[in-house]
Amino acid sequence: MLTVSAPGKLMLMGEHAVVYGHPCIVTAVSERLQVMMEKTTDGKITIDAPQVHDTRFLKQAIFEGNTAWNITQRGLLVKTQCNFSNCYGFGSSSAVTVATLFALTQLRNKKVTKKEVFDVAYKTVLKIQGVGSGFDVAAATFGKTLLYTKGGGILEELPWNLNDNGVSLVIGYSGVKADTPTIVKEIAKKREEQTERVDKLFSAIAKLVSQAKEAGNKGDWESVGKFMNFNQEYLRDLGVSTEKLESMIAAAKKAGAYGAKLSGAGRGDCIIALVSKDRRENVQNAIVQSGGTIVATQTNAEGVRVDP
Ligand code: PMV
Repeated sequence: MLTVSAPGKLMLMGEHAVVYGHPCIVTAVSERLQVMMEKTTDGKITIDAPQVHDTRFLKQAIFEGNTAWNITQRGLLVKTQCNFSNCYGFGSSSAVTVATLFALTQLRNKKVTKKEVFDVAYKTVLKIQGVGSGFDVAAATFGKTLLYTKGGGILEELPWNLNDNGVSLVIGYSGVKADTPTIVKEIAKKREEQTERVDKLFSAIAKLVSQAKEAGNKGDWESVGKFMNFNQEYLRDLGVSTEKLESMIAAAKKAGAYGAKLSGAGRGDCIIALVSKDRRENVQNAIVQSGGTIVATQTNAEGVRVDP
């Protein structure tokens, strides 16, 4: 059986604004979702994916891939395996979509670029979810840490390594699962009602993202932390933070993090804190004391690939 895996993702900066054409910074995480695939002769698609609670993405991905790449032999057995809980908001839907499509190209000998896989995967996700910038699809496809704009207009790999290379990222789970599509739709409604105010927030967030990119590329993590803190203030203004997230963020900052913010749609999921090596333990303890759970993961992971 062919085995393909794609990584989960973590939004570093620029969430929500990215839905409206502004750039964000996203990193791929070491948690991966595996898709095992083999050809069958019965013409049917058999799916055995007990850990994927929503198989619509997988089924739609096969349909879209068969259509995009003119695949006429349809018989498949597909299995999945996942080493991350979909509770953390690490993006199991986009990872399963990308891994399925990439597996299909490998199994059917289709010579396509990763950008083509991304395009079909983003289309698939939009068909099911209706909304989204595709940043999660980009992380699953290309991996690493990326500056990204909606639809893959900008896809720039950043030379960031936050894996204990003097600086690292601490991730704290709030215990609450975020409902991303609902929050994204809510923000769209808010923007309709208060266009000027919301667009001003998005432009301000976009500026922080580009400042953070410049600072991070120079290894100036103290400044990146500051920009993360400002980003969090705008997210709070937007109305997507919660008391729980705020108290975890405050604890991380008090324990010496360069900066901390929520990650993703908000209202739950995770916070991220940027820390120097010597503060890592203090910050982790502070997040736990404020009611969070530390999620041990590496960032900057490899994109979709064939596993041995
Ligand atoms: O909740 P997450 O981690 O899937 O992140 C959502 C990020 C948004 O910008 C709010 C939506 C999007 O598709 O970019």
